[in-house]
Amino acid sequence: MQATKAVTLNELDKTKHHKVLCYPRCTHKELEKRLTELEKLGIQALQFTGEKSVFGVPVLGKGCVGIVVIAYTKTGKAALKIRRIDADRKEMFHEAQMLKKANTINIGPKLLETSENFLLMQLIEGKHFPEWLKTLENQETKTRLHLVLKNVLEQCYRLDKAGIDHGELNKAPKHIIIDDNDVPYLIDFETTSINRRISNVTSICQYFFLGNKIANTVKDKLGKINEKELINALRSYKQKTTKENFENIIKKILL
Ligand SMILES: Nc1ncnc2c1ncn2[C@@H]1O[C@H](COP(=O)(O)OP(=O)(O)OP(=O)(O)O)[C@@H](O)[C@H]1O
Ligand SMILES: [Mg+2]
Repeated sequence: MQATKAVTLNELDKTKHHKVLCYPRCTHKELEKRLTELEKLGIQALQFTGEKSVFGVPVLGKGCVGIVVIAYTKTGKAALKIRRIDADRKEMFHEAQMLKKANTINIGPKLLETSENFLLMQLIEGKHFPEWLKTLENQETKTRLHLVLKNVLEQCYRLDKAGIDHGELNKAPKHIIIDDNDVPYLIDFETTSINRRISNVTSICQYFFLGNKIANTVKDKLGKINEKELINALRSYKQKTTKENFENIIKKILL
């Protein structure tokens, strides 16, 4: 990823970068409002780099709710999620509250600040799970993959026990980032709920081992998994979310 110069808030409205702040329609009034909001959050500059792009400006990520860029505060680098003008959410407070809850059990990027249109959090430098998986090509593959899968599953178990349902782990390609030390992070707590039936472990197992695309690659790299036994173990866990039933799932996967 090519590093680019950081742009200060003062410079922002003089360049095309300001379009990222109020995507996809930028009005002067909204831009002014958002610049003031950023200032209040202690943000000094933004950096435009990454594999996605918004009106030709590179960014870290782009989803239906937000655009994510690097931000600088006096304490250093962070990730800034910018609410899209056309997002189906009116503000970022729900996501911030859910991320904060997940943080209490050491899950997700650390929440730093929130406002109506922004969420400032720890920057996770790494790769989405499918891209990380592609980098595993030598003999240590199996051990590294074991450790990452076990770590993600344990995070999901902790979320289950805490009554926090992430909500998007069955389609997880964009929701797990593996950092350069092989530490996995669950991200995007925007559809998370504490009032819903909990299904983090079952959803992630569906994604990792029982779905189509990624599951086949995971199984190729891991070796054989008895799907029938795994499904039975998941069924027991669903009925009784106990440590013992969770360990039983792990045993079916990590042979
Ligand atoms: N803390 C972070 N550190 C680094 N990159 C991040 C961070 N948070 C998000 N990203 C990047 O930005 C992308 C979009 O973020 P996120 O999934 O939160 O947005 P979204 O609008 O809710 O997306 P979606 O429509 O897929 O739900 C992520 O896939 C990831 O690449
Ligand atoms: Mg989202």
